[in-house]
Amino acid sequence: MATVRQKLARLTIAGAVFLAAPAVAFAQGEHARRAATELLVLAGDARRLAAEDTNDLHRKGLADRIRGGLAGLELMLRLADQEQGHQPRPHGEALAALREALTAGDLVRLQSLAADLVAAYPFRATGILPAIPTSKRLKLGRELHEELCAGCHDAPDLEVERPAYNLFDEAQQLSPGEFSARMSVGVRGDRVTGIDNPLSDEQIASLVAYYRSRTN
Ligand code: HEC
Repeated sequence: MATVRQKLARLTIAGAVFLAAPAVAFAQGEHARRAATELLVLAGDARRLAAEDTNDLHRKGLADRIRGGLAGLELMLRLADQEQGHQPRPHGEALAALREALTAGDLVRLQSLAADLVAAYPFRATGILPAIPTSKRLKLGRELHEELCAGCHDAPDLEVERPAYNLFDEAQQLSPGEFSARMSVGVRGDRVTGIDNPLSDEQIASLVAYYRSRTN
């Protein structure tokens, strides 16, 4: 089976993508955005973990994801601080507290600690959350989805710890900011998919526009 990267290369060669993608100006540097994105997903995972209708299998997957996310966060936050010219803030304690809350199963505290960090590193979806779902974006989004994502996401296997959820449903259920953050993290660098940042912001924006434009 062709990897996502190979499929993407084919699409690119076919000239279906990368046509005059406009340059996007970012108010936020790459490190700050990455940190803010990871934090928003972490806060969302904490909320899912606490939700009554989340079953034990998915709880285990979510707890693993949160634990994995926390491992890289200290460095990520330090880089974000540096990039923004802040004195590095002491995050060790906050992250240790998050880890403790997770281990203790104190989900109220976990959510409140995550919310504090989200407030300290606000996520700006500029560039990924398109203000205007143009017909060009919707078309590109559909092509990318059908070629690269539908195989895993359209008929999710829920009997696994970390399912590949239906992205049309997620687009309806999640806040626009959290959905964009999940798209950014989900598409870039995920060990399960083996994808390592193959999509441009404009391509992610097109996918976001497409998912938000319709239900499956
Ligand atoms: C080989 C299967 C596979 C392919 C192809 C794939 N994904 Fe995924 N995706 C997954 C799995 C499995 C997860 C869950 C990972 C986890 O929980 O850690 C996931 C997670 C995600 C998430 C996070 C969802 C959430 O609720 O946090 C997003 C967003 C996402 N994928 C988008 C995409 C998009 C967009 C594409 C196409 C460009 C794509 N994926 C292609 C398997 C796949």
